[in-house]
Amino acid sequence: PTILVLNGPNLNLLGTREPEVYGHTTLDDIRRLCEARAAALGLAVDFRQSNHEGVLVDWVQDARTSAAGIVINPAAYTHTSVALLDALTATALPVIEVHLSNIHRRETFRHHSYVSRTAVGVICGLGATGYALAIEAMAGLIPGGQA
Ligand code: DQA
Repeated sequence: PTILVLNGPNLNLLGTREPEVYGHTTLDDIRRLCEARAAALGLAVDFRQSNHEGVLVDWVQDARTSAAGIVINPAAYTHTSVALLDALTATALPVIEVHLSNIHRRETFRHHSYVSRTAVGVICGLGATGYALAIEAMAGLIPGGQA
């Protein structure tokens, strides 16, 4: 089984973007971490990033036939995108939402997530480790996965 790991806008800049908030880990480091964790659980990872809301919606729609579950860091679209929420809900796949930072100790506008409404669970504030934990949790949620 394949887990789609989706990353939203500006996450391509990780490593140099606000390191005091997001740390020095790059998105490529996170991809390798996800692939290693998934491989250890007998799973594959399809790891992607886009700055474009519509592209993310297209990828979520495609996941209906190509993935067993979705791990998503929607980045800023977390707080704005009903379109992403609707697409995720339409897939009927298990969704785990991840944020590197603890959005609840940041600005008020980051406290609300549209995506959480359709997520099985949410992990935030643990940096790249959150992605590895999400992969591990997903293994227990998908057919053919192992807890
Ligand atoms: C983020 C938190 C969002 O509020 C922000 O817009 C991001 C990254 C995180 O991973 O902490 O771009 O999703």
